[in-house]
Amino acid sequence: MSQTLKAVRGTRDLLPPETELWNRIETTARAVFARYNFGEIRTPIFEDTGLFARGVGEETDIVSKEMFTWEDRARAQSEKPQMLTLRPENTAGVVRAYIEHKLGESGQLQKLYYIGPQFRRERPQKGRYRQFWQIGAEVIGPPSSGSESPLRDAEVLEMLATLLDEMGISGWTLELNSVGSAADRARYNDTLRAALEPVVSKMCVDCQRRAVTNPLRVLDCKVPEDQPIIATLPVIADSLDEDSKKHFAAVKAALDASGVTYTLNPRLVRGLDYYTRTTFEFTHGGLGAQNAILGGGRYDGLSEAIGGPKAPGIGFAMGLDRLVLTLQAQEAAQPAATVAKKLDAYIAPLGENLNAAGLALARELRRAGLSVELGDGCFRLKKSFEAADRVARKIVILGEDEINSGVLTVKDFATGTQTKVPRAELHEFLKS
Ligand code: HAM
Repeated sequence: MSQTLKAVRGTRDLLPPETELWNRIETTARAVFARYNFGEIRTPIFEDTGLFARGVGEETDIVSKEMFTWEDRARAQSEKPQMLTLRPENTAGVVRAYIEHKLGESGQLQKLYYIGPQFRRERPQKGRYRQFWQIGAEVIGPPSSGSESPLRDAEVLEMLATLLDEMGISGWTLELNSVGSAADRARYNDTLRAALEPVVSKMCVDCQRRAVTNPLRVLDCKVPEDQPIIATLPVIADSLDEDSKKHFAAVKAALDASGVTYTLNPRLVRGLDYYTRTTFEFTHGGLGAQNAILGGGRYDGLSEAIGGPKAPGIGFAMGLDRLVLTLQAQEAAQPAATVAKKLDAYIAPLGENLNAAGLALARELRRAGLSVELGDGCFRLKKSFEAADRVARKIVILGEDEINSGVLTVKDFATGTQTKVPRAELHEFLKS
C-alpha cells in the first residue's frame, strides 16, 4: 500500500461543526467593521520578498527565520529570477496596495479590513500554526486626512473592545505602550546599545548580533537565561520626546473618556520593525503560552519605507485560530450555552422510486429558505427516523399516498406529535 498523505506540519483542516464558529466570528467582525465604516480589501497570498524585508524588517524573527520564500523561475534568460514569499502578515501588503492604487490621492482616510490566511515557519504548538488566519484592519491616509491623530488610535482600540465583546470573548486585557517616533527609536537604540555593551557577551548569539544591528530586537529574545539581563535594560518611555508623550497622553485620555480599560506595559515593543508611537496587544488568560489574541500599532513611516508617499497609519490583526480556541474554552466552561442547531426538516422518501420526488420537494423547501436534509429511499423507515432525529427538528414522510393526495405526514421530534399537512402549507408549518 502506498503511504497515506497527511496535512503538512503546522497546517490543519477545519471541519464542520467547528467551521460554524469560524463563520460566526467572521460574520460578527464584518458587521462591526461596517458600523465603523471599514471596507474589505483582499491582497494576494504571496508578494515580492522585498516587501517584507523592507516593511517588516530584516532583523525581525518573522523575516530572518519564519518566511516561506522561494525563487520564481525566470521568464526569460535575461530576466533575474524573482524572490517570492507567502505573506507572513497583511499590513505590508495593504500598504503596498494603498501606494499602488494611489488611494491617498482622494485625500480621504482609508479604513480597510481583511480576513485571510498568513504563513510563518514557527514551531507549531497549541495556538501557533504555520498557516493561521488573521482578521485585521488598517486606517491609513495622507497627513491632511487626520491619519496622525491620536483619536484614530483610540477609535481603533475602542472598536476592538466592542468587537471582542460582540464575539463573546470575556476576560481580555489590553496592554498598551508607546515606542515613540523614528527619532525616539533611534535614540532608544543608542541607549540600549550602550546598556548592552558590558553584558551582551553573556547573551545568546542572536542578541549579540542584534545588539549591533538593531538593539530594540534584543527585547524579543525568548531565551530564558537572557531574561534577567533584559529586565534590567532601560525602557523606551524614557526616550520619548514631547510630541510622542503628548500623542500617547491623548490616546490614553480618549480611552479613559470612552471607558476602555488598559494596562501599561513599557516592555511591549512588538516583533515588527514598522511600529511608531502607539503599540498594543490584547491578551487572554485562557490561552496558555500563546496568550496574544491580537496585536497592532501605529506605523507612520511604513509607506515611505516601501517607496510610497507619507501616509501615517494604525492597525491590528487578530489571530482567528486563537479567538476560536478562546471561545471553545469558554463554551466548555458553560456547556448549557451551547445548544446544537438543528435543521428545519428531514425528508424521508419511502422507496428508491421516490428519491426524485424527494429531491423536488427538498428543492422547493430549500428555495423557500428552509434548511433541509434529504434522506434516501433505500433506507428502512427506522433508519430514516434515527438519521432525522440526529440532525433535524421534524421529519417529512414522502410515500406514494402522500404524492397522490398532496398531503404529507410530518413528525415533530420535540413533541412527538404527527400531523397531516397539505403540501401548499408545508413551508409555513415547518417554519413554525
Ligand atoms: P502579529 O502580532 O505578528 O501582528 O500577529 C497578530 C496576531 O496574529 C497575534 O496576536 C496572534 O493572535 C496571531 N498570530 C501570529 N502568529 C500566529 C501563528 N503562528 N499562529 C496562530 N496565530 C498567530 C501582525 O501580524 C501585524 N500585521 C498586526 C498589525 C496590523 N499591525 C498594524 N496593523
